[in-house]
Amino acid sequence: MAIQTIQTTPIPGQRPGTSGLRKKVGVFRQPHYLENFVQSVFDTLGDLSGKTLVLGGDGRFHNRAAIRTILKMAAANGVARVLVGRGGILSTPAVSCVIRKHEAMGGIILSASHNPGGPDGDFGIKYNIGNGGPAPEAVTEAIYQRTTAITSYRISDAPDIDIDHTGRGYLEQMQVEVIDPVADYAELMEQLFDFDAIRKLFAGGFTMRFDAMHAVSGPYAQAIIEGMLGAPAGTVINCVPREDFGGLHPDPNPVNAAELIELMAGPDAPDFGAASDGDADRNMIVGRKFDVTPSDSLAILAANAQVAPGYRGGIAGIARSMPTSRAADRVAEALGIPCYETPTGWKYFGTLLDAGLATLCGEESYGTGSNHVREKDGVWAVLFWLNLLAVKGQSVQQIVEEHWQQFGRNYYSRHDYEGIETHAANVLMDDLRVKLANMQGQQMNHYTVEYADDFAYTDPVDGSQATQQGVRIVMTDGSRIVYRLSGTGTEGATLRVYLERYEPDPAQHHIPTQQALAALIAIADSVASIAYNTGRSNPSVIT
Ligand code: G1P
Ligand code: ZN
Repeated sequence: MAIQTIQTTPIPGQRPGTSGLRKKVGVFRQPHYLENFVQSVFDTLGDLSGKTLVLGGDGRFHNRAAIRTILKMAAANGVARVLVGRGGILSTPAVSCVIRKHEAMGGIILSASHNPGGPDGDFGIKYNIGNGGPAPEAVTEAIYQRTTAITSYRISDAPDIDIDHTGRGYLEQMQVEVIDPVADYAELMEQLFDFDAIRKLFAGGFTMRFDAMHAVSGPYAQAIIEGMLGAPAGTVINCVPREDFGGLHPDPNPVNAAELIELMAGPDAPDFGAASDGDADRNMIVGRKFDVTPSDSLAILAANAQVAPGYRGGIAGIARSMPTSRAADRVAEALGIPCYETPTGWKYFGTLLDAGLATLCGEESYGTGSNHVREKDGVWAVLFWLNLLAVKGQSVQQIVEEHWQQFGRNYYSRHDYEGIETHAANVLMDDLRVKLANMQGQQMNHYTVEYADDFAYTDPVDGSQATQQGVRIVMTDGSRIVYRLSGTGTEGATLRVYLERYEPDPAQHHIPTQQALAALIAIADSVASIAYNTGRSNPSVIT
């Protein structure tokens, strides 16, 4: 066994996006592609002696091969110890939990989240720092700069180590500890939520369906919801992680989780439905014949946080990404706590959570979480809802409608134009930016523009700045249109248009969402000439 130094040359395009480096599997399988990136991560981290690293992924195609390579590179780069999930499996929130609990220097997560998997699907890699959260921009940029100058990488030629059984072994001088992927995470959940109350709920005949979408939330949801909370077998479906997610798109929204939505709308609907994505950090909450928007879910959890033992002491603040609806802002105001507005991407919540400024965080893209880890957390959100349902004894719909009565309703929708031509997408955004200067005071349909800008952010904790984070047109009544380009896609560009309208009057709370937003949708199209610029008359996905 020896440590090899392999000559290489920089490979263009290794700049991490909203959430790590994501590319087609074929790109990652190119010679040196993964190795160059991983060596750049290690080079950026500096001295690794005595350090512990956490390693795992969502089990998608190429996960195992990548784990083997990374273990051999970690050994060759002097890492003291790696905690790896059995079978190479660890959900994204579980990596965050394990890093924190075992005080690791950081972790490597292999996932392309909600993007499809399989030999023709997507793969991804990201580095999380010692607080358990995604590496901040300064670190990802340093890694990227390193990829542009790399000349060699180090790797051990030792044989593959068994990762399918828990226990300890050695690869070169490095200790490899294969851990149960669920144990640490389940223990944390038990501290946060009232498991007794939830057990009683299930014992009383409450019914639920959790769709793991053939992805990594399956083992977690099954162990906790069926195993610890006593829900009947079959409550968690599609619970074995598959390399290609059963050929489906593991993104928990009403479009991709159509089977669950159909069940929840049918005559035999259970009381509660939920789904999670490829790496188990997203969640979708559904009631009987009733979908809950992620923005509302964040606001409702914040308003009721005291039902859960882990949050009984109150919440210090809420943080939401800029395009997320302002439903949470109203709750924060009522609670007398701050609500922070950050750029899109969980990495922007890290400093706020570390500094104790925010306790709950959320994004409109089916992401909710708290200071218990530094990632969004799908199973956590579902358990929070179960805790809420157990305490309130009401249906999902009743809880949401009562919330709207108290705080008003923020009608909300996101329209995605996927796989459009990159040049056309950039032209559209550039044109919009030019128009911004003259928008203030303009009349648009029955709306008047209060202000229009390109969202820029200064982190209140470390002062770091982010610019061009989304063009927003805000109306005098608080309604908004936001445009931004996706930073997670792997093909062409995706334009996201976010639409929001605030409605205080409970008599107006039951309009179908797209109808309630129709005037804003028309304005959004005409201001950005979406049809003209993209050649699409309709969005490809509406959530
Ligand atoms: C998308 C979501 C964003 C989320 C990210 C990672 O990023 O919009 O909220 O943090 O996935 O899950 P985007 O493709 O919009 O850059
Ligand atoms: Zn995800």
